[in-house]
Amino acid sequence: MKKLFIETLGCAMNSRDSEHMIAELNREEEYQLTTEVSNADLIIINTCSVREKPVAKLFSEIGIFKKYRKDGAKIGVCGCTATHLGKDIIKRAPVVDFVLGARNVSKINQVIKQKHAVEVDNDYDESSYEFAGYRTNRFKSMVNISIGCDKQCSFCIVPETRGDEISIPKKLIIQEITKAVLTGAKEVMLLGQNVNNYGRRFTDNNERCDFTQLLKDISQIDGLERIRFTSPHPLHMDDDFINEFVSNPKICKQIHIPLQSGSTELLKQMKRGYTKEWFLNRCDKIRKLSPEVTISTDIIVGFPNETDKDFEDTLSVLEEVRFEQLFSFKYSPRPHTQAIDYPNQIEASVASERLTKLQARHTEILDEIMDLELGKIHKVYFDELKANGKVSGRSDNGRLVFVEGSEELLGKIIDIKIIKTSRGALDGILID
Ligand code: SAH
Ligand code: F3S
Repeated sequence: MKKLFIETLGCAMNSRDSEHMIAELNREEEYQLTTEVSNADLIIINTCSVREKPVAKLFSEIGIFKKYRKDGAKIGVCGCTATHLGKDIIKRAPVVDFVLGARNVSKINQVIKQKHAVEVDNDYDESSYEFAGYRTNRFKSMVNISIGCDKQCSFCIVPETRGDEISIPKKLIIQEITKAVLTGAKEVMLLGQNVNNYGRRFTDNNERCDFTQLLKDISQIDGLERIRFTSPHPLHMDDDFINEFVSNPKICKQIHIPLQSGSTELLKQMKRGYTKEWFLNRCDKIRKLSPEVTISTDIIVGFPNETDKDFEDTLSVLEEVRFEQLFSFKYSPRPHTQAIDYPNQIEASVASERLTKLQARHTEILDEIMDLELGKIHKVYFDELKANGKVSGRSDNGRLVFVEGSEELLGKIIDIKIIKTSRGALDGILID
C-alpha cells in the first residue's frame, strides 16, 4: 500500500480540504497515512497564505522534503499558496511534481498523474461536488457550507486564493452530516470563510436558504447533538441569527466573532462594514441571552495608520468583551490586497510592542476567567484518547477538558466536574 504524508497549515477549512484530498486519493488507490516523510510515496503540503511567514517557510520546507524523501516520492503543493503562486512554485522548486489550488481539490487524482501539472483555476465551481468521505476523528465531522469569500477586507488575501463565494446546496450539506452521524459523529463543525453569508449565491439560481434557516434544518437531523460553525462575520449577525443561536439547544454556545480592530476608523479602512459599537452590541446581546457562551476573536495590530488611540480602542473592546480566546497577529502586507498600498505602514517594532501588550492583558483576563471554572459542571463530549491515560473532549461552550479514563468514554457526552484549571484546558472528574 502506498504511503501519504500530508502537512496541513492554516485554518479549519484547510484541514477539511486535506481530509477531502485523502478521501479522493483513496477512491483510486489505497493510501496509508504516515508521519514520516522518508516513508512516503506522496508528500503533500497544504499551504496557507494569509500571512507572509508560512509562505516564506514553504520553500525551505520543500528543500527539506527533497532531501529526506525516498526515491521516486512525489511532492505536491496544495491550498492557498498554490493558488496564489501557481506555476511559479515549480519554476522556483522544480522538484515539486504538482500544484493544486484551494478550489480544485476534486482534481487531485488528475494532477498526480501528470508531471508538473498546475491546477489553480479560481472560477472552478466545486460547490456541488460530492467528495468521498473521510474523517480524521470519527466522533466529529467538519462539513463545508460554502466556498470562497465575497468580502474584500483590505488586508486579506483569501478572496484571491479561494475565489468568489458560492454556497453549497443545503441538500448536500444535510446528506453529508447525516452520513457522518450514521458513522459515529455526534458533532458537526460547519465551515466557511463567512458562514453567516450562507445563501447569498448558489450555483442553482432557484435555491433559497439563509444561515439561520440552515442551522434550523441541520438541527433536525436525528442523532446529531452538537453544531458548531466557523467563522461568522460580525456584520451579518442579525437578531434572527442571535435568537436562533441562543435558543437552539443543539447549537453549541461557543462563537468566534472576528473583531480585527476596535477602532471604527480602522475598521472602515479595513473595509469590515461594522463599527466598534455594533461589534460591542452584538457581543453584549449574545452574552446577556446566553451567560454560558464563550466568545473568541481575531485581532490584527499594526494595520496601516493605526495610532495609539486606535490601539486603545482595541484594548477597550478586549476589556469590555473579555474574550475567552484570542488569536492575535501583527499585520502582514499581502499581495493582491488594497492595504498593501496604503500609506503609513506601521513600523515592525511598534506592532510588536502592541501585540505584546494586547496578549499580556488578555492572559491576565484569561487567568481570571479560568479561575472561575473551578468546581463547575460541564457536559463534555469525549473524542480523543491521549497517550497519558487521559481522555479529552469539549464542553458545550468549547472548553478543552481532560479526565482520567479509557476508550469507553469516547463518543459519550458526560457530566464532568472541574477540579483543576489552566489557561488552555481544564481537568475534571466524572460525577455520578
Ligand atoms: N473569514 C475567515 C478569515 C480568514 S483569515 C475565517 O473564517 O477565519 C483568518 C484571520 O487571519 C483573520 O480573521 C485575520 O485576523 C487574520 N489575517 C488575515 N489577513 C491578515 C494579514 N494580512 N495580516 C495579519 N493577519 C491577517
Ligand atoms: Fe478574509 Fe474578510 Fe473574507 S477576513 S476571508 S476577506 S471575510
